Amino acid sequence: MDSREIRARFLKFFEKRGHAIIPSSPLVPENDPSVLFNTAGMQPLVPYLMGTPHPSGKRLANSQKCVRTQDIEEVGDKTHDTFFEMLGNWSLGDYFKEDAIKWSFEFLTSKEEGLGLDPARLYMTVFEGNDDAPRDEEALEIWKKYMPENRIYFMSAKSNWWSPGDNGPCGPDTEMFYDVTERGLGDMTKEEYMAADDRQEVVEIWNDVFMEYEKKDGKVIGKLAMKNVDTGSGLERIVMAIQGKDNVFDTDLFAPIMEKIAQLAAIEIKDLRAQRIVADHIRTSVMMIADGVRPSNTDQGYILRRLIRRAVRYADVLGIGKGMLSELVPVIAEKYKGIYDNVAEAEGTIVKEIWEEEEKFRKTLERGTKELTTLLARGSVSGVDAFTLFSTYGFPIEMTEELAAEQGVTVDRASFDAEMKKHQELSRAGAEQKFKGGLADSSDKTTALHTATHLMLAGLRKYLGDGVHQAGSNITEERLRFDFTYPQKVERDVLDKVEAYVNDAIAKGCVVDKAQMKKEEAKAMGVEGSFWEKYPEEVTVYTVKDGGEIYSQELCGGPHVESTGAMGRFKIVKEEASSSGVRRIKAILE
Ligand code: ALA
Repeated sequence: MDSREIRARFLKFFEKRGHAIIPSSPLVPENDPSVLFNTAGMQPLVPYLMGTPHPSGKRLANSQKCVRTQDIEEVGDKTHDTFFEMLGNWSLGDYFKEDAIKWSFEFLTSKEEGLGLDPARLYMTVFEGNDDAPRDEEALEIWKKYMPENRIYFMSAKSNWWSPGDNGPCGPDTEMFYDVTERGLGDMTKEEYMAADDRQEVVEIWNDVFMEYEKKDGKVIGKLAMKNVDTGSGLERIVMAIQGKDNVFDTDLFAPIMEKIAQLAAIEIKDLRAQRIVADHIRTSVMMIADGVRPSNTDQGYILRRLIRRAVRYADVLGIGKGMLSELVPVIAEKYKGIYDNVAEAEGTIVKEIWEEEEKFRKTLERGTKELTTLLARGSVSGVDAFTLFSTYGFPIEMTEELAAEQGVTVDRASFDAEMKKHQELSRAGAEQKFKGGLADSSDKTTALHTATHLMLAGLRKYLGDGVHQAGSNITEERLRFDFTYPQKVERDVLDKVEAYVNDAIAKGCVVDKAQMKKEEAKAMGVEGSFWEKYPEEVTVYTVKDGGEIYSQELCGGPHVESTGAMGRFKIVKEEASSSGVRRIKAILE
């Protein structure tokens, strides 16, 4: 069974059991400032797990694109990858433990409808209880209907309590493990099982979280109004189990990429780790660029830059020549045709972005490497040196640290960070001003600037054409910052026209209309929106209009002013490059 079939079977299985199949959200969460990328299937669903009714109902399932880069240095081993898909099913206050466990077991083991895994190779863990919640005897009793009790182990909160962070919905979980050894492990005591886990002889393939609690500032504060189920199964790992491989790079998700790398390499590949790193990093970069991220020195863009530059370094190890990395793009796009079509659709842009970023880095790579070699020979790298490597030669700090560590040399990170702060423009964190899109708050001023943002985008599209779309936004009480797709500088006379367009709508005292409609209907009406695929079938459209004259019509979650009358005067104060192919505007309401 290949990955395509496994994904399809999962969705079909849950659709048959009353679940609406919702699209994957893009990798970059639009209104969640707590994370740079979606790291779990439930992340885009937090508001619904907390009680907001979901437009598609109480039973949902999907395959969600995720990125996790905290273990980037582990990539190259058997199981770590920075991009992965998470298969998940959710109950929003509907079914609970009984059905969740039954369906997990059925899907894993059923030959007809599921994966047909051997039940004798499965092991389960359940929550042993603590001050926050009791021992999960209920989950144990349900599992006993399907599994011998000696294959079910009670574990502490460290492994069997799941939350997306310090705040939000959380709860005890039950995790499913699969024996990937050839010999078969058979019955094991808890100690034997834990040792097998350490040796990666059993791998976690699914997690059912019983989300009925809430966390605030790292503490469980009590129960939610409803009992939810949040499940997650890493597709790459499931595919590995089904295809009888002991590592994800041999599965059909990675094998064509690995083969192409072998073709591109000038030499016979001996460094498997380098080959895996290139495969992983370029795959993740492709998915990020398809979802609108561009290489830059801040936030998401910085992570992308780091991935591409790290891939270039390892490509060098393999003797992969200049400009060849982008040849992997069509291989990756092919894998996601019919699943995430935006990858193939953006193939040209992705090739260009990877090619250009490689080119930029290569211009200074040789000189930077020489500089670093000199520093390493001296036995230490100061913060100022590391900063020069970053700002002049484009070496991400983590890369400098990694190269230094290989020679047993340390980098003064604290003074590098201080240096970074001094150069706010280049700061990747930008202190609190992290560029993560969305609104800082829902005050009147921020809301008015949000409505102004819609009008401005409509104005930009009017004067610069339909190729202009939102690439990101960040709105505070003081100003709006808006990134949009456009290949060159926008001249001041055009900005003046856009300003006049917005001020005209304000002067007319337009009404802002909110309407629910079918996604297809909105599309047909020409409503503006980025990331259509992330929206459910039923969407909200905000229209700014004066009688019959429509100033702006955009897909959005709000909030907006009811009327534009009292917004003030709109002014564009700055227009600059954000990243390649993306411009940034800062504007205010006076
Ligand atoms: N949200 C749970 C996880 O990521 C299912 O493991």
